[in-house]
Amino acid sequence: MTSPHPIVPEPVVIDTDPGVDDAIALLMALSSPLLDIVGLTTTAGNVPIHPATRNALAILESLGRTDIPVARGATRPIRGRYAYSRHVHTAEGLTHPLPPPNTRTSHADAVQYLAQTLQARPGEVTVIALGPLTNLARLQRKYPSALRLAKRLFVMGGAVGVPGNVTPHAEFNFYSDPTAARLVIESEVPLSLIDMAPCRQVFLTRDDVVAAHPSTAEGVMAERLLAGWFRLDRTRERFNMYDPLTLVAAVCPEAIKFRSVTMTVDDSVTTDDSTLWGRCLVLDETGGPTRVAEPGGVDVATSLRVIRELLGWS
Ligand code: RIB
Ligand code: CA
Repeated sequence: MTSPHPIVPEPVVIDTDPGVDDAIALLMALSSPLLDIVGLTTTAGNVPIHPATRNALAILESLGRTDIPVARGATRPIRGRYAYSRHVHTAEGLTHPLPPPNTRTSHADAVQYLAQTLQARPGEVTVIALGPLTNLARLQRKYPSALRLAKRLFVMGGAVGVPGNVTPHAEFNFYSDPTAARLVIESEVPLSLIDMAPCRQVFLTRDDVVAAHPSTAEGVMAERLLAGWFRLDRTRERFNMYDPLTLVAAVCPEAIKFRSVTMTVDDSVTTDDSTLWGRCLVLDETGGPTRVAEPGGVDVATSLRVIRELLGWS
């Protein structure tokens, strides 16, 4: 009986604005035998860059993973200002207190770190973007060939043919920096976009958290973050798994069926209706470099199973 091929974990860099759902996604990635997190890059988004970066460092330090470098990124979008989402994630960005980290960020900033990592390992490293796309857009501008060196690119963002979660047209990450989103999408670097359509279908309830019974340190932290999130507002019924579903797409290809399109993102300042900012515009339904979920293409049961397995929830 030949031994099965050993799993070779895929190197990934995660660009993140933690944020509670970012934190859950990071905990899943840390637990996955399929992924080797080579580094984190941070961006403001849910909260300003200082708490976002502090949270990334604190999560890694709490789990004994200070081997993973954190490169500090965008403090502001390419144009305008970040909207922040303190009302969802609190001003600190997390809903369970973690010890302040002693670890410091890397000397390289996020753009330098991404360029160095992708250029040193062409075609090997997957990039998973969970916040506004400012770091990736600045990478594209300063090192035009770097992003294309990624093995795969997963992006949480956008609302393709469905309402947004910030305005009727725009999802938060794309609304926060629509120019960055447009530059990354128009770069034609192939990417898988996990947008509002599949994300609306994958959520956890208050009762799911009560029944978690986590068996791992990552699962305990996730349980505490989610319990804290629900405790903040007793009217809250669902925690949408935006960033966690993006992780699922990276480790479980069968969870989401994609279709390829050509699209762009509206960052026009000429419109007098700012609710149009960050909206997704599909230019060609018959194909293109952006993979978006097919309507009804997410396997909700499989997605939730993968999330619970990676969190060690029974
Ligand atoms: O719209 C949801 C996205 O915006 C998630 O990535 C969440 O963390 C926020 O960044
Ligand atoms: Ca995020």
